[in-house]
Amino acid sequence: MTSTRPAHLRALALENIHPEGAQVLGAGSFAVETRTDALGEAALIEALGGVHVLGLRSSTNVTSAVLDAAPDLLAIGAYCIGTNQIDTGAAARRGIAVFNAPFSNTRSVVELALAEIIALTRRLTERDRAMHAGVWRKSASGAHEVRSRRLGIVGYGNIGTQLSVLAENLGMQVLFYDTADKLALGNARRCESMEELLGEADIVTLHVDGRSGNSGLFGEREFALMRDRAVFLNLSRGFVVDYEALRRHLESGHLAGAAVDVFLREPKTADEEFVSPLRGLPNVILTPHIGGSTEEAQRDIGSFVSGKLVDYVRSGSTALSVNLPRLVLPEVAGEHRIVHVHRNTPGVLAQINGVLAGDGVNIDGQYLATRGEIGYVITDVGADLAPSTCELLEKLPETIRLRVLS
Ligand SMILES: NC(=O)c1ccc[n+]([C@@H]2O[C@H](COP(=O)([O-])OP(=O)(O)OC[C@H]3O[C@@H](n4cnc5c(N)ncnc54)[C@H](O)[C@@H]3O)[C@@H](O)[C@H]2O)c1
Repeated sequence: MTSTRPAHLRALALENIHPEGAQVLGAGSFAVETRTDALGEAALIEALGGVHVLGLRSSTNVTSAVLDAAPDLLAIGAYCIGTNQIDTGAAARRGIAVFNAPFSNTRSVVELALAEIIALTRRLTERDRAMHAGVWRKSASGAHEVRSRRLGIVGYGNIGTQLSVLAENLGMQVLFYDTADKLALGNARRCESMEELLGEADIVTLHVDGRSGNSGLFGEREFALMRDRAVFLNLSRGFVVDYEALRRHLESGHLAGAAVDVFLREPKTADEEFVSPLRGLPNVILTPHIGGSTEEAQRDIGSFVSGKLVDYVRSGSTALSVNLPRLVLPEVAGEHRIVHVHRNTPGVLAQINGVLAGDGVNIDGQYLATRGEIGYVITDVGADLAPSTCELLEKLPETIRLRVLS
C-alpha cells in the first residue's frame, strides 16, 4: 500500500469535535468536513473515500473492514482518551497512525477530585441537602479542614502526580502507592504497599490505569484496611472497585464518605436509569463520569489531537502515536523525506539503503523505530527521487506504506 503526499488533503471530523480541532486541521492545510453524528460501518466506509485523516470520539467504530475500504487514509485521531473503538493493530498493519489525547483532561479530573475531597471532608452535600429540605443544621461536628490531613493516592501517573502537587499546596500530607517506580514530587512520600497507604491515609483516592489486572483491585479486604472515618474516591475505572463492599463500609459508619465518578455499567443515554448500590447514601457524591468533562479539556483535546495529525502527515512524526513506532523528528533535513512503514523483519533498513545507494541517492539523515510487528524508517535525502526509485522501495516485500514528503 503506497501513497505520496497528496496535493489536496482532506479531513473528516465526526462526533462534534471541538471547533479548535477543526481549526488546527484547517491551519495545517486540510479541507475539513465536520459532522455532529457518529457513523455506522457502511456509512463510514462511504464517507471515507478520498479522506486522508479521520477524527472521531468514542461512538464511531473503526473496524478492519473500514480500514480496508479506505486506501487514502493516513491517520486517525481519537479526540478522547480511549482508543478501544479503533482496531489499532489493523491500522498499524496498514500503515495508518492512530493518535489520542492521553492527558488533555488531567487537570479537569484533578480539580474535581480536590473539590470532592474538600466537600466530603466538610460534609457539604449533607448540609446542602438539608438546606434544600428547609433544615438549618449549623454544626461543626464531623466537619474538618483538609489542611494536615493525609491524602493517599493509589496510582501516581498523570493524574495522581498533579493531584499530589495541588493537594500539598492546600497543606495536605501526601502518600502514594504505585506499582511502578515513580519520583515522589514535593514532600510526597512513597508507600511500599497499598496496605501501608490504607493504614495511614485519611482520604484514599484511586487513579490507577485500566489494565485488566486492576479488575477488582479494591474490595472488602481493602476497605476493611482503611482508617476509621476515612473518605474514599474513585475517578479512575468502574471495574476496579467493589461498590457493594463500599456501601457496607459507608452504612456501618466505618467510612465517613465517598465520591465516585466511574461505574462498571454506565447508562448510554439520559433515558437509561442509573443503577448503583451507592444511590441514596448520605455524604456520597455520585457523578456521571464527568471527571475529564470540561470545556477547557475538550478544547485542549481538539488542538492536541489535531496537532499530532498535522505533524504526522506533514513530517512523519509519530510522537505519542498509540500504534506506530514512535519517532520524534526534526524538520526535514534534505529536499525530500521518505516515510516508510514496514513489517518488522531483519534487513529492511539495509534493503532501503541498498535501493537508495543503487540509484545514487545520498542520505542526509535517517531514523528507525520498531514496535512489535511494525518498523518505521524516516530517510531524508538531498536529491530528487526518480519515480523508479520510489517504485523499487514500494516493491520491497516488507513495505506496508511509502510516503515521500517534500
Ligand atoms: N473520570 C474521568 O473522567 C477520567 C478522565 C481521565 C482519566 N481517567 C482515568 O484515570 C486513571 C488514571 O489516569 P492517568 O492519566 O493518570 O493514567 P496513567 O497511566 O498516567 O497513571 C496510572 C498509574 O497507575 C499505576 N498503577 C497501575 N496499576 C496500579 C496498581 N494496581 N496499583 C498501584 N498503581 C498502579 C501506573 O503505574 C501508573 O503510574 C485511568 O484509569 C484513566 O482512565 C478518568
